[in-house]
Order: sequence, then structure tokens, then C-alpha cells
Amino acid sequence: MNVLVTGGAGFIGSHTVVALAEAGFTPIILDDFSNSEAGVIDGLEQILGYRPTTYTENCHNPETLRRIFRDENIQGVIHFAAFKAVGESMQKPLEYYDNNVGALIVLLKTMQECHIPNLIFSSSCTVYGEPDALPVTEQTPVKPAFSVYGNTKQIGEEILHDTVSAGIPLKITALRYFNPIGAHPSAAIGELPRGVPNNLVPFITQTAAGLRSSLTVFGDDYPTPDGTCIRDYIHVLDLAEAHVAALRHLVQLNTSSFYDIFNIGTGQGVSVMELINSFERVTGVSLNYSIGPRRSGDVTAVYAGVEKSEQMLGWKATRSMDQALEDAWRWQVRVDKG
Ligand code: WQD
Repeated sequence: MNVLVTGGAGFIGSHTVVALAEAGFTPIILDDFSNSEAGVIDGLEQILGYRPTTYTENCHNPETLRRIFRDENIQGVIHFAAFKAVGESMQKPLEYYDNNVGALIVLLKTMQECHIPNLIFSSSCTVYGEPDALPVTEQTPVKPAFSVYGNTKQIGEEILHDTVSAGIPLKITALRYFNPIGAHPSAAIGELPRGVPNNLVPFITQTAAGLRSSLTVFGDDYPTPDGTCIRDYIHVLDLAEAHVAALRHLVQLNTSSFYDIFNIGTGQGVSVMELINSFERVTGVSLNYSIGPRRSGDVTAVYAGVEKSEQMLGWKATRSMDQALEDAWRWQVRVDKG
């Protein structure tokens, strides 16, 4: 089964391409490389033994989608292509709404027109905002978004719900990711943040590699056991394999219209300090860090209730945080060697 992976050269997209191929699917990449490097395709070739078919185009164009759907006999789509920098989204709201919401609408309309039945949508735990109770489940109420980025994910989920409620023949699953970390153990692909990393683990590995002078821990006065924020850090390969499980679940459904949402996390909450200590233990590298002020927009704690994904998708995360940190560090060392 041929699967179009929009944003397939990105961090999660590229690892999902590997998981799809290893599961017997044929991934076809569509990526405009506005936020990913061409070298990712070389890394995928190293892992897969062949270069996946790649279209260097934008998924905002219905003609591009029609041509690829037809020429590649696409039966399903995994839609990663989106801007995802929380802070940037507050400076560039129209670019974020156009790319993250506008392109989704074009994709849905073109899938309907071309009778492509299956869609996996990349959503985020950010829709939960600051949860009142933990762990968050798929029934936990969505809160007003803290950022334009988060709002684009909430709006995306509403569009999917309304599309299927109207009886449009699409089978759609939204996956709410928690915090993906790590890299493929071969170090052939991994996370390649452009400029100063927003996210914790790439900032840690760049600091450990000497590319950053020190890591700032954004606040240690939160109401948590060690005062630092708690998140659900999931190995990117576990996250990638969740997409395969979700696609298999969709394909076997004997209905024309379907929409559901799944949390994709480990179910374990880990604090920033716990993660830093684990990194130092696992790598033997001591990290230069200091405590700074809180970062606006951060929630105190969020981690996943994962029962629904386990029961309905037959999927659960299997890799440890230590493995993810080892893989992230191996990738950083390899990237630094060029
Ligand atoms: C994790 C923790 C920071 C950097 C975001 C998006 C989410 C998803 C993942 C796209 C927080 C702390 C971080 C640093 C720090 N993105 N931190 N020093 O904010 O939980 O989630 O990225 O899908 O949608 O919201 O991830 O890695 O930025 O932060 O102390 O230099 O690490 O305060 O507590 P976050 P993060």
C-alpha cells in the first residue's frame, strides 16, 4: 500500500518513513524542504537500502496532490507538513494559519475528490493546555490554546471532526503527540533543528557537544517535586510506529467515514531535572546548565493516558528514555563530525 507522507523529510516524518517501510508499506515523501535538509533522504537510503520516492513540492497545491495521488496510486496519507515553532507562531500568525490550516483544507478536499480514503493527522498534546487532572486522556477537555501553533492544531481537529460528521467518505485518525525525542539508533537520521533549538533535548545535546555555552532551565519554582516542569518524552521511533498501528487500524475499518483521536505518549511524566540527570548518567557527559526564569506559555505538567491507544491500536511505547537520550547523543556526535 502506497502512503503519501507530507513533511516526510522532517524529524517525525523521516522516522515514520522508516517505520512504514519496515512494516511493508511504500512511503512516498512530499516535502518542500522549508524546514528540513535534503541530506535526510541520504540517511533514509542508508537505513532502507533504497531512496524513497520524494517530491520536493508544497502540499498546499491541489494540482500537485492530484498528480501524486494518481501517479503513485496513493491509498493513504500521513500529514506532518506544518510549521511547529510555538514562539514563532505568535510573530507570524497568518503564515501559521495559512500553512497549518489552509493546507489541511486543500488536502482534505483533494483527497475527497480523488477518493483517497485514509488520513492520519499530526496533532499535539498542546491542545490540552494546562490540564486540571493528570494523566490527560482523549476525553480531557481541550483548553483555549496558549499559542497560534496550538490553535492551528485545535482548529485542524475541529475541521476533521466536522468533515466526517458531514458524511464525507474519509477515515481519519488524529494523533496527539507528546514530546518526541531521540533518533534512529543508526544515527543516519535524527532531529535537525534550524538555528537555536526551541526544544529541550536538542538544546541539551548541542550544549553537551559544546555548540551552546550552557542550557537554561526555564524555572525551578513550579509546583512539582523538584520545581521543574513535567512532560511525557517519547522515543521518536515509538511515535513513528504508532503511525503504522494507526494506519493499520484505519485500513481494516469496514466503514466509509470515521474520525477518532489518540494520545501518543509513554504515560510517564518526567521533569526537566530528571531528564538532565538521566542524560548525564547515560552519556557520562556533564552538562553546563543554570536555572533561569520561567518561559511564557509553558504548562507545569502534562503527560498521557495511553489506555485507548493500547486497547484500540494495539500499540504502546516500548523504548526507555535512556535509550532515547543515548540515540539523541549518538546522533549529535555524528552530526558534529559532518
Ligand atoms: C520541554 C520542557 C521547557 C528548552 C513543545 C510544543 C509541542 C511539541 C513539543 C510540536 C519545558 C523546558 C526547554 C530549554 C528548558 N512541538 N526547557 N530549557 O514546550 O513541552 O512542547 O515542543 O509538536 O507542541 O509545545 O517542549 O522541549 O520546548 O520544553 O528548561 O532550553 O523543557 O520549559 O518545561 P514543550 P520543549
